[in-house]
Amino acid sequence: GAMRIDVITLFPDFIESCARIGVVGRARERGLLQIATWNPRDFASDNYRSADDRCYGGGPGMVMMVDPLRKALASVRAASGSEAKAEANAEAKVIYLSPQGTRLDQAKVAELARRDHLILLSGRYEGVDERFLEHAVDEELSIGDYVLSGGELAAAIVIDAVGRLQEGVLNDAASAEQDSFSNGLLDCPHYTRPEHDDWGDVPAVLTSGDHAAIRRWRLKQSLGRTWLRRPDLLDRVELDKKTRALLAE
Ligand code: ADE
Repeated sequence: GAMRIDVITLFPDFIESCARIGVVGRARERGLLQIATWNPRDFASDNYRSADDRCYGGGPGMVMMVDPLRKALASVRAASGSEAKAEANAEAKVIYLSPQGTRLDQAKVAELARRDHLILLSGRYEGVDERFLEHAVDEELSIGDYVLSGGELAAAIVIDAVGRLQEGVLNDAASAEQDSFSNGLLDCPHYTRPEHDDWGDVPAVLTSGDHAAIRRWRLKQSLGRTWLRRPDLLDRVELDKKTRALLAE
């Protein structure tokens, strides 16, 4: 069935508006992806609906409390029946977005996209009580070495990157395979009409009709750009047999 992503967040409106647009929005409308949000404030035990409190040991900022998060997570599990499932991929994975996490890359995105259920936790303030992370979080992920004021943007990024890889979401299966990074290389340049413009002409090979030559040109462009812009990526690239044969032609 459709992949399910639950997001525990103090700003459910933000996640929901992101999940309404574009490729992800269409995937939801078509029933290929299920997304729900849960606000820890709805699980608070006081009249102020508090989900955060001051930091033990002093210092600035607030910390998200264990109990509202634990109750929100229990509700996610009850709503999704995630504990009842046996298959390895059916079990929900709980992911906390933070700069302290493992860096997200396309290989990680592809791995997450194969799961049936993800539960994302977006933090705010100084972070989340460490006891919740120890007991309830399976994995901590960072979207990059910079600090956001909350994990919502990071969760939206995970939803988009994972959502577009779901079966049937992109019109053309080849379109995901052509992505930058799916073969470990950066993407080649793209052109559309007009063929001739004040700002330049479309490379002749692309209008030649010679499909092998076009594939070879695109691969060389990808290799060249990767070498110039992201030489670090080349250390990890393994070109397959077909690709090496194409270059040798
Ligand atoms: N929350 C704040 N900064 C973040 C980052 N870089 N990655 C993931 N979650 C975050």
